[in-house]
Amino acid sequence: MTRIPLIAGNWKMHKTGPQAVETARQLAKLCSDVKNVDVMIAPTYLSLPLVAASVAGTNVKIGAQNLYFEKEGAFTGEVSADMIKAAGASYVIIGHSERRQYFGETDSSVGKKINSAIQSGLKPVLCIGETEKQRDEEKTFLILDKQVSDGLKGFVREELKDLVLAYEPVWAIGTGKSASVQQVRQVHEYLRSLLEKLFAKPFANQTRILYGGSVKPENVVELMDIEDVDGALVGGASLDADKFIKIIKYNI
Ligand code: PGA
Repeated sequence: MTRIPLIAGNWKMHKTGPQAVETARQLAKLCSDVKNVDVMIAPTYLSLPLVAASVAGTNVKIGAQNLYFEKEGAFTGEVSADMIKAAGASYVIIGHSERRQYFGETDSSVGKKINSAIQSGLKPVLCIGETEKQRDEEKTFLILDKQVSDGLKGFVREELKDLVLAYEPVWAIGTGKSASVQQVRQVHEYLRSLLEKLFAKPFANQTRILYGGSVKPENVVELMDIEDVDGALVGGASLDADKFIKIIKYNI
């Protein structure tokens, strides 16, 4: 089973519209010869339609960093899946640890958001990961099991055919301290078997599992070498096109 790697850039709360468009254009140019790797960037909501228009028809696909699960209505400050899709995105990041940590995201709201993404034809990128304390207390697998099982509760596998899972240990995000090859291998193997347990083997084999947390040009090769790592979710190192392209072209 071949899974096409996905290298995704999460731009978080960085870049104004014009800055985002400039970086996206540079990246699209650098990506013009990229084959067999999917590339996605997730700018802020404000920049998203501008960036999507500026890279339309190129190898660079667009994602949002969040969504709200209701279709429309009196939900001040929120944005729906349909709005994101109409603005030119094909992916949406759901349950990022910063959203869980600062904005009260729970496994139950994550499930609703995944459902809403699927209904609108967006590919959900479900983020999971343990904190340093949870790892120290040897609760890593317990936490991951809960985040996946609860986040995906009630779905049948056909609905989740475009799901992407992103393992992002919280202690490795933005710290410069990536998880070790051994730690990543162990968790990704575990996640693949968990997907098999929940949705059977063909589903587990086709679903991409990304690693995220201080991915950079210097460590991408060893991470992508791990059998169950099917891509990367990159924060800091995705903000600069010249740096990000080195991660995207990890195999050249
Ligand atoms: P980082 O962020 O690459 O800056 O560690 C990763 C992420 O939060 O997706």
